[in-house]
Amino acid sequence: MEEFKTWFSEWFNTHYYHILYKNRNQQEARDFIENLVAFLKIPKSKTLLDLACGKGRHSIFLNSLGYKVIGADLSKNSIEYANQFANKDLSFVVQDMREPFLFSVDAVFNMFTSFGYFDDDAEDIKVLQNIANSLPDDGIAVIDYMNVNKVIENLVSNEVVTRDELQFHIRRKVKQGFIIKEIDLTDQGEEYHFMERVKAINLEKFTKYCQQANLTIQHTFGNYQLDPFNLQTSDRLILILSK
Ligand SMILES: C[S@@+](CC[C@H](N)C(=O)[O-])C[C@H]1O[C@@H](n2cnc3c(N)ncnc32)[C@H](O)[C@@H]1O
Repeated sequence: MEEFKTWFSEWFNTHYYHILYKNRNQQEARDFIENLVAFLKIPKSKTLLDLACGKGRHSIFLNSLGYKVIGADLSKNSIEYANQFANKDLSFVVQDMREPFLFSVDAVFNMFTSFGYFDDDAEDIKVLQNIANSLPDDGIAVIDYMNVNKVIENLVSNEVVTRDELQFHIRRKVKQGFIIKEIDLTDQGEEYHFMERVKAINLEKFTKYCQQANLTIQHTFGNYQLDPFNLQTSDRLILILSK
């Protein structure tokens, strides 16, 4: 695929992204993975893909539980960082999730809203098709998305977040089906502007997407403790998919 700049290839590749989200820590990732693994009962002999793995917090923990894990992400900087944790059963690759995967796995994890970045619905569906193609007939996939209903209901339009002595000026809005976060900051006299633009995909739309990728939604959960999904109150929309 032609390399051109998009908000997601820029923003996620900066260290500012990691500073802003540093509170989303290792412990949260571990607790969620422990709950998922207990629910899914995936044998330790299996190979897992952490799709859009970032710096690998879920990959590293899954590997520590005994799984073979591949972490894949578009951000070269994040993969370079994650590579320091690589071992014979844990590898990291630069991969655009819209491009066919060059490996087969037993389960795919797509964590912490790492989906819905593309303008064209066909590209989101392509990602789901790539996931389906990488799985055996009894394979499963987990999509950990936001509950767009609750996010939109509770949208804070202006906020200043201070992390590591940096002030992130954040403006949020919903426009043409996307939840948009504009991020401005000044660092050492330089001004920076970044954006997050994530599609407001609700359960109904996910169901249609999945049908087009020959995936079936088997379970939905509403938070990292795997409580039932509730449209009004859940923070997350966590989907367990099968072929
Ligand atoms: C919200 S972050 C989550 C990272 C990681 N899953 C975590 O929980 O820490 C989203 C990730 O998606 C990656 N990403 C964005 N667009 C991508 C694409 N087209 N293909 C693969 N990864 C992509 C970003 O580089 C970023 O690491």
